[in-house]
Amino acid sequence: MKKLLDLLSEEMGQAFAAAGYDSNLGRVTISNRPDLCEYQCNGAMAGAKQYKKAPIMIANEVVAQLAESKAFKEAVAVPPGFLNLKLSEEYLRQFLTDMAKDEKFGLEMPKKPKKVIIDYGGPNVAKPLHVGHLRSAIIGESIKRIVRYAGHDIIVDIHLGDWGLQMGLIITELQERQPDLVYFDENYEVEYPAEAPFTITELGEIYPTASAKSKEDEDYKQRALDATFKLQSGVRGHRALWKHIINISIPDLKKNYANLNVDFELWKGESDVHDVIPGMAEQMKAEGYAYVSEGALVVDVKEESDTKELPPCMILKSDGAALYTTTDLATIMERVKDYDPDLMIYLTDKRQALHFEQVFRCARKTKLVKPQTEMIHIGFGTMNGKDGKPFKTREGGVMRLETLIQDINDEMYRKITDNRDVSEEEARQTAGIVALSAIKYGDLSNQASKDYIFDIDKFTSFEGDTGPYILYTIVRIKSILNKYKEQGGVIAEDGAFGLASSDYEKTLMLELAKFNAMLETACEETAPHKVCAYIYDLANAFNKFYHETKILAEEDETKKQGYIALLVLTRDVLETCIDLLGFSAPERM
Ligand code: ARG
Repeated sequence: MKKLLDLLSEEMGQAFAAAGYDSNLGRVTISNRPDLCEYQCNGAMAGAKQYKKAPIMIANEVVAQLAESKAFKEAVAVPPGFLNLKLSEEYLRQFLTDMAKDEKFGLEMPKKPKKVIIDYGGPNVAKPLHVGHLRSAIIGESIKRIVRYAGHDIIVDIHLGDWGLQMGLIITELQERQPDLVYFDENYEVEYPAEAPFTITELGEIYPTASAKSKEDEDYKQRALDATFKLQSGVRGHRALWKHIINISIPDLKKNYANLNVDFELWKGESDVHDVIPGMAEQMKAEGYAYVSEGALVVDVKEESDTKELPPCMILKSDGAALYTTTDLATIMERVKDYDPDLMIYLTDKRQALHFEQVFRCARKTKLVKPQTEMIHIGFGTMNGKDGKPFKTREGGVMRLETLIQDINDEMYRKITDNRDVSEEEARQTAGIVALSAIKYGDLSNQASKDYIFDIDKFTSFEGDTGPYILYTIVRIKSILNKYKEQGGVIAEDGAFGLASSDYEKTLMLELAKFNAMLETACEETAPHKVCAYIYDLANAFNKFYHETKILAEEDETKKQGYIALLVLTRDVLETCIDLLGFSAPERM
């Protein structure tokens, strides 16, 4: 379905043409003076020079052509030459009727869907998930859902950090604690035990301990580096322990992500490309892209137009070890081979911007990707506490994701049970749903690249630009619809929208009509905050309408039917949008 503004611009363009002017002058936009009109067109002003005519004369001639207009019920030429427009209620009614019938509410599907790989989450195995990983998961999940809804072919990969120093640290600490484990016995030749020599809880404690020790003890750190090297070069016992670490961690990660309503198709990691790295490095060398500099293998990635210094991309360190850049390049090579994507999207903290700039340039230069393949890094800002500093626990430690979620759940539970009679079970369940909306909306309503302040009081509020406010609005609509059904009302399949009979109703209808245009932009710009801004406006428009309108008490049956159709569409659009943001609404709250 075409976007409303395009339809209006077309009609306006025809009026310009009929009056003898360039139809491109007929571009209609949303009014920046909503007190005067709903839409406007400044084409007469723009055409004045070209046609050597006073803009108001052009505007008047165009208005004369709009006398029979189906779309505009009012078109007024205002000095010096603006066109102030109001939409016909009948036209709007028809637009919403078509929109409600369409499976995607009028969003047009791409002629040629893109194959897109989205790389987000990126947790490091055996390190606790902390709030830094929260943003990647929340934003990535929403972008996945938006781009998929918009009709593209999406593959998501969690890209585990499963191959680095943290593995060496854990193995080292295990050896300190249990030196007699068979994994450390070089003469051990039979199969290793199926059972891991540690639990997930121990694992959670081993890493921080090992990491702290390595910072104080040079010798310990060296042993961890050696262990990492042994693991990567294939020492049997190290590989077996590593497998245990992975096997124990993944179910725990899955559980954590499931609690966040986040899921991935591919659970690949840095380790998966280990075996293809030597070949890739050789090829880069053979083709003349990579050269040895101070013992390391590098590829120059600077370009003439650079305004800042871009260091060469390091492929192998002087000891032959691969780096973060190397695994990312090799992963690109594999993804191209396996999926041939048109677009690859990465979500990490914006402090990794230089890393991705180097990786993308190197991938292009060395022809790991086709020239037309797009690669984008979406770098997000930091989540800060109320003091404006990176989020910490009350004790000042790094905030673990689980703790944070628990805190918000508890706060939500307190609010829900405050002065209300709900069963413990329902309250806990609702608190979980609403808490997730608070966290996600609090994050997604900001432009991703910006830092934001994680403010529990604000995010959990039922009023204002928050997730709970949106849910509250949805629940309100559902409860009216339930009451309507209890009173014997039947909700028609394709609702009989009425003609807007008040400004409140029309405003709500106009908000609804923006859906397809909004979503198209949110997808093109990979910008979930546009969805948030839209549903906030929509919820506000609905609540104003609700306060000013007697819905179920309306006696005119046709009018009431129109209200019900509007409620159903508002609910459906809001629920679709929150699903795209990665959360859902309860039945009651
Ligand atoms: N594991 C990394 C980190 O915690 C994030 C990985 C992001 N994805 C990528 N392909 N580099 O910083």
